[in-house]
Amino acid sequence: MADPSFTAPIGTRDVLPPESDRWAALVATFADHVGRAGYGLVVGPMFEDLAVFQRVGEATDIVTKEMYDFEDKGGRRIALRPEGTASIVRAYVQHRPVGTPWKAWYAAPNFRYERPQAGRYRQHHQLGIEALGSDDPDLDVEVIALQADLYARLGLRQVDLLVNSMGSPADRAAYAAALGRWLEERRDALDPADRPTIATNPMRVLDSKREATRRVTDDAPTILSSLSADTIARFERVREGLDALGIAHRVEPRLVRGLDYYTHTTFEFQATALASAQNAIGGGGRYDGLAEALGGPATPGIGFGSGIERILLACDAEGVFPGPDGAPGTFVVDVVDGTHARDLVADLRRAGLRADRAYGGRSMKAQMKAADRSGAAWAVIVGADEAEADEVTVRDLRGSREQERVPRDAVIDHLRKRL
Ligand code: HAM
Repeated sequence: MADPSFTAPIGTRDVLPPESDRWAALVATFADHVGRAGYGLVVGPMFEDLAVFQRVGEATDIVTKEMYDFEDKGGRRIALRPEGTASIVRAYVQHRPVGTPWKAWYAAPNFRYERPQAGRYRQHHQLGIEALGSDDPDLDVEVIALQADLYARLGLRQVDLLVNSMGSPADRAAYAAALGRWLEERRDALDPADRPTIATNPMRVLDSKREATRRVTDDAPTILSSLSADTIARFERVREGLDALGIAHRVEPRLVRGLDYYTHTTFEFQATALASAQNAIGGGGRYDGLAEALGGPATPGIGFGSGIERILLACDAEGVFPGPDGAPGTFVVDVVDGTHARDLVADLRRAGLRADRAYGGRSMKAQMKAADRSGAAWAVIVGADEAEADEVTVRDLRGSREQERVPRDAVIDHLRKRL
């Protein structure tokens, strides 16, 4: 049989070193950033009962068209998680953890059967937070500020923040009905592909990228005209908080997020350095009815999700966040029999230093080449002479190439002093 040549499935990527070093540094930065604000890590299943997601997005593409769902061997209907919020809220309802609000963060893969393109994958990864149990608009400010400050901390400057209010469920329903009627009157002018959406989810029509539809919806009434006085006051409090924290933002009444559960504040961050249509690096909002929809007590909640792949693309476009510095390391070159390398790398690593070596009894030249390629700052060389004297030669690999002999048992102190 001919060798099959396997590649990663369409729309997925292998993240290899050194790109993965930067990925890990981003996750660590995020964990530190939101950890300081009281958010704790939640690790949950990558798949859920299909109904969990059906509850949150019956009228959205993410749930109706793009979900990876299947029957498992026990006959259960399962879906790979297309997004993190529903899973976190399901876990909250199941365990009822304490905390008002209860604050969770995650860094996890999501699966959407989308048409792959630059910045859009079938498996993407999100850094996100969710805070459950408070409807205080100042919590909205906290969540948005954490996201804005994360991007600033990475060095991103070309980021626009769009905010909107979807209103209370009653405001939202009133708007959807009014908009549905308005669109119905103009049905024939819409792109045919968008016409069925009027009945299922009129607000999604506003999000259509199709030219004919856009021409019509440019004049559509906005949600802001359907908001109650109470909702407007809440939204004002959020905007005032953002202003107070110096977080520039623009109200975009046509901002329609791709999930059904949003109420009140919604927001999206767009990286203007990314030319592609996939320039949303993160977004989120309130979902005050979600816990109830998943069988729990009425519990307000808010959070955001931000795509790791897109954050890194934006960092590349702006030339920022190079990733870890690559703490200067050592490379042990053993031209005796490998025993010194075996023992020295273990000693160096136990002492907290970075250390690597070559395998397979390679020549001095080959090992020195591997040392250079590893990016190590020092080669720790053991030849017959050194072995005989119970010493090593420490050579500086960064420019000077200077070297000196050091007693074997003083090498860790010697290197530490120079780190
Ligand atoms: P979302 O806007 O669907 O929201 O996704 C959040 C972010 O994930 C997007 O802004 C984008 O950066 C990234 N993303 C989404 N789809 C893809 C894809 N196919 N390829 C690459 N990156 C992608 C949510 O998922 C909500 N759960 C966010 C949230 C949290 N709302 C409240 N809490």
